[in-house]
Amino acid sequence: MLDHEQVVMHTGRRSRLPVIVAVHSTALGPAAGGLRLWHYADWRDGLTDALRLSAAMTSKFAVAGLSSGGGKAVVALPEGLELRPDRRRDVLRDAAEVIASLGGAYATGPDVGTGPADMAVIGESTPHVFCRPKDLGGSGDSSPHTAQGTLAALRAVSRRLYGTSSLAGRRLAVIGLGRVGAGLARLLVADGATLTVTDIDPGKRTVSDELGAVWQSPEEIIAADVDIVVPAALGSVLTRQTSAELRCRAVVGPANNQLATPDVADLLHQRDIIWVPDFVAGAGGVIHAISTELHHVGADDARARVDAIEETVDHLLDTAQHHGRTPAQAAGELARQRLRAAADATSSP
Ligand code: PHE
Repeated sequence: MLDHEQVVMHTGRRSRLPVIVAVHSTALGPAAGGLRLWHYADWRDGLTDALRLSAAMTSKFAVAGLSSGGGKAVVALPEGLELRPDRRRDVLRDAAEVIASLGGAYATGPDVGTGPADMAVIGESTPHVFCRPKDLGGSGDSSPHTAQGTLAALRAVSRRLYGTSSLAGRRLAVIGLGRVGAGLARLLVADGATLTVTDIDPGKRTVSDELGAVWQSPEEIIAADVDIVVPAALGSVLTRQTSAELRCRAVVGPANNQLATPDVADLLHQRDIIWVPDFVAGAGGVIHAISTELHHVGADDARARVDAIEETVDHLLDTAQHHGRTPAQAAGELARQRLRAAADATSSP
């Protein structure tokens, strides 16, 4: 059964590339979610990604208490294709056209492979875009806020495990040094943590050196002898296999769709490893963008809303413990409650 409200797919007029927009739910409000510009062996894999990522956005907004729905856009690039600037513009204009055709049911933002400059291009043809550069009236790069929100989630977990929200002296393994991962790594070092890091791009070793971190290969790092593993790259790092290899006490990171299959959350729980759902730990970026651009709250309030992820995680860990559930079950239940309440409110006369 398709549980998405609508999925639109076009071959871009200019780029001839598959542009996919998935609107999972608008029960809480118009959908929002990033535009992923990424390589896929087959465009059908891009479609699968869009379906899963948009559903996760619905949960992300529901748990964050924001009145937005879940959506995601994917432009599936063939393996190995490097976009030159003029081609990139074509791709973005194609994506903007599809987004505009949805008439506000979906607004886009940055995601893996896109940033504020790309949002500026999209903003030339549709107002339904977040995170344009500040000088163009947008809220700018969302990645520092995503990083800040993940730090808040890590503080809640640290308090639970070690009785202190400070990460000083903790050993963490950060998987992925993209905009969010590298920003988060810097915050962690500033807090006094010791880092092991990796990225699929070996060029990121310079970032590792600059952080004074230990570099490991993406394969090795899963089994690193650390306190907390922080997935900050692409999804599906947590499989049955990798969950058995982990030596940490918690997994908390901003990457979307960390679980290869939902049952991995249970396996982690059985191993006494706390997994904070990705849609909770990675919500800082959207919380900031939506709070400032849609709700027009000031910078301090937006920051406070992002920091409130710490209380959200606290609450979820309490609820989970109290009811003998996993944090994933507790978060799923909270999201469903909020979606049900919204559905009831609109269906009552
Ligand atoms: N990539 C962001 C996420 O997955 C999406 C986003 C950020 C959307 C900012 C809108 C604004 O949460």
